[in-house]
Amino acid sequence: MKKVKESVFVCSNCGNEYSKWMGQCVACKEWNSIKEVRGLGSKGGKVKRLESEVKKITEGQSEICFLSKIPEFDRVLGKGLVQGQVILFAGEPGIGKSTLLTQIMGINTGLYVAGEESADQIGLRVKRLKLKAENYDILETNSIEEIEAKVSRTKNQYKIVVVDSIQMMVTDEKSNGVGAWTAGSPGQIRESTFKLVELAKREKVVIIIVGHVTKEGEIAGPKLLEHMVDTVLYFEGDKNSDLRILRCVKNRFGPTDEVGIFKMEETGLRGIGTDEINLVNNNEEKVGSAITILIEGTRPMMVEIQALVTESYSQMPKRIFSGVDFNRGQLLVAVMQKVLGIPMYQNDVFVMVTGGLKIDDTGVDLAVVAAMYSSYKNKVLGKKVWVGEVSLLGEVREVRQYEKRIKEVKALGREMAEINNIRELK
Ligand code: TYD
Ligand code: MG
Repeated sequence: MKKVKESVFVCSNCGNEYSKWMGQCVACKEWNSIKEVRGLGSKGGKVKRLESEVKKITEGQSEICFLSKIPEFDRVLGKGLVQGQVILFAGEPGIGKSTLLTQIMGINTGLYVAGEESADQIGLRVKRLKLKAENYDILETNSIEEIEAKVSRTKNQYKIVVVDSIQMMVTDEKSNGVGAWTAGSPGQIRESTFKLVELAKREKVVIIIVGHVTKEGEIAGPKLLEHMVDTVLYFEGDKNSDLRILRCVKNRFGPTDEVGIFKMEETGLRGIGTDEINLVNNNEEKVGSAITILIEGTRPMMVEIQALVTESYSQMPKRIFSGVDFNRGQLLVAVMQKVLGIPMYQNDVFVMVTGGLKIDDTGVDLAVVAAMYSSYKNKVLGKKVWVGEVSLLGEVREVRQYEKRIKEVKALGREMAEINNIRELK
């Protein structure tokens, strides 16, 4: 059967997609930026009996699925890696993507495509990580065609191919009609990814594509690729702290609700269990501090919220929230002022989550209020753990998986602060 190649039209400026060519991009208003890009080829349209496919998977499971042998990484992916899987591994520059992948490649047979660094630089990293240099096959290139050629030629030799990073990759201009777009442009990123997806499916190799994202935009970057790949992993954390969280935001082959937790150390990233994280907080009682418990993935995790509330000498008191949502923080300050009658308008407020964690869980509300209250009153609140969503009226509401959090709190020899309204703080 003849393969049908459908074309799509993509704006080289903003990456927007169209079904037909236009002179001006509707989204970004750029002229002459829309180019034709070859779509994914047809899969041949052959009907397959599902029964035999499933049989193949169950019988030869060990062949199709395999583990990376980095437990925290496998945990996030569910069953580990699946042949032909394409993973987008995204994160801010410098967060540790290359470090983790270098560690994975040190204990798996794979090809490391170095688009950003030279083999020497990777060699230095391997040495620093105390891994064996002989385990590495490095391909220094930024050409997708060279990767294709290398992987096709070395049939089945590699189980994993790491492409570091997609922003550095270009595809041959003639074969795809994208013209002389530079590496990192939406068109090149898209087309390069298309080709890597095809390669992974054809050669049954796992391809891990590294993509940098920026704090602000994420435009022209990995966001564009999320629908093209099987799995999307985000590696996050604060560069000034050593805690790193690996999150799965999309997974065609497994669950997305698990997280991996790592610590960046001298010799690279070390997966740490829940117990160690909970030790982040010691038993000391401090002014301006409140302990809360989060559910990250399926694991409870104890963290400390610190607040500093001081008299302001400015017309516009400062509001700094690090690790908790700014608008949510503003709201909590207002609720405190109204319900507790504290003149927050004449105080600067700084709130921080220890460990550089970003919290997206309204269950942290109560801890934020408690920490601010403790700082303002200059008194310690005791060893209680603060969990609950705070309403506009100051009522404390129960949050998801509360029972699970209580269990963990008890196991750690602490108690939950049981209050129904923040008024009870007084
Ligand atoms: P890197 O993996 O290069 O980041 P990315 O690929 O996401 O841009 O990590 C860079 C940082 O990690 C760098 O600031 C140094 C630090 N690092 C360690 O702390 N320990 C190590 O063993 C290594 C290799 C790096
Ligand atoms: Mg890197």
